[in-house]
Amino acid sequence: MKSESDTDDTNKELTVSKWTISDIELIGIGGFSPLRGFMSEKDFQSVVKNLRLSDGTIWSIPITLQVSKEEADLLDIRDRVALKGEDGITYGVLTLEEKYTPDKKMEAQYVYGTTDEKHPGVKRLVESGEVYLAGPIVMVNRPSHQAFENFYMTPRETRAMFSELGWQTIVGFQTRNPVHRAHEYIQKLALESVDGLLLHPLVGETKKDDIPAEIRMESYQVLLKHYYPEGCVRLAIYPAAMRYAGPREAILHAIVRKNYGCTHFIVGRDHAGVGDYYGTYEAQELISQYEEELGMHIFKFEHSFYCKKCDQMTSMKTCPHTNNERFILSGTKVRELLRNGECPPPQFTRPEVAEILVKGMR
Ligand code: ADX
Repeated sequence: MKSESDTDDTNKELTVSKWTISDIELIGIGGFSPLRGFMSEKDFQSVVKNLRLSDGTIWSIPITLQVSKEEADLLDIRDRVALKGEDGITYGVLTLEEKYTPDKKMEAQYVYGTTDEKHPGVKRLVESGEVYLAGPIVMVNRPSHQAFENFYMTPRETRAMFSELGWQTIVGFQTRNPVHRAHEYIQKLALESVDGLLLHPLVGETKKDDIPAEIRMESYQVLLKHYYPEGCVRLAIYPAAMRYAGPREAILHAIVRKNYGCTHFIVGRDHAGVGDYYGTYEAQELISQYEEELGMHIFKFEHSFYCKKCDQMTSMKTCPHTNNERFILSGTKVRELLRNGECPPPQFTRPEVAEILVKGMR
């Protein structure tokens, strides 16, 4: 964290969104390493078209600062711009090196695989300002995560923790949902082969109908308490915003977890997906092409569920029965149950978790 004196020589200011503040934070704490700021046009173009920064390093999603033309016109190259939240707090200082106006349709098509504005990532892209500001930033204040402060760890801190625990192999798990039985199943399958699991839920902005992070965090704690061995699991928050960019976001998620010290990462079915914009295993297929270069082992799991006939958690790969025997609930169905005060069945969600979800969603 830098001192307030870092803001002394700022000559301009901008009010930025919560999304941008989470990007500032991830850059500031090293979660988005090697990024040091918002991307230049050269990096942006290279990431969008080749999934690489202009120096060749793998990077799959542009990290950019969008402003309106009017806001951009007030700024000059080399300005030191204080990036403030709606709360008036300066979260970062940008040294402006470049302003550019990208082709957003092209960006949407490459990054999200669609230009459909019903896609939440594309919608946000279209609604954001048309000019992108680039340059290095320093974080001057870290956003507070209120109820989750106990679970806040920087990449440096998780790495130190793993080393203290003596874990050499760590699998990272990304989620924006409560941990249902299928998640638990694939986490535990992975855990059989490594020293520890980092349960690393995303708590930044998500789409409105996703279950709020406050409720999810409570459900994770209760789940870990009742169903996981204390010595093998740690829970920490991932303060980023959700892009819903499917395959591209799976790569970003893996890179970031490597920065947090993970050696392994889980990509199951429809990773970071939304609607039916991506194929069930498209994220696995894309990340497989980069696995060696990423220097991480990616655990790829098939669609998992509880099967009555098998009488256990299983998957498309290992269960020979039909969907009639399987407990498969869509996110929409689960939300509907919860809103009606009904618990999803224990074959789908642990009762302790279901209780918290029902209470929270009422
Ligand atoms: S995500 O948007 O954060 O990827 P979610 O929280 O649902 O969504 O998923 C977390 C991880 O679990 C992802 O790697 C996803 O692919 C995987 N996953 C979710 N549900 C299943 C399932 N039923 N079977 C196998 N993998 C799953």
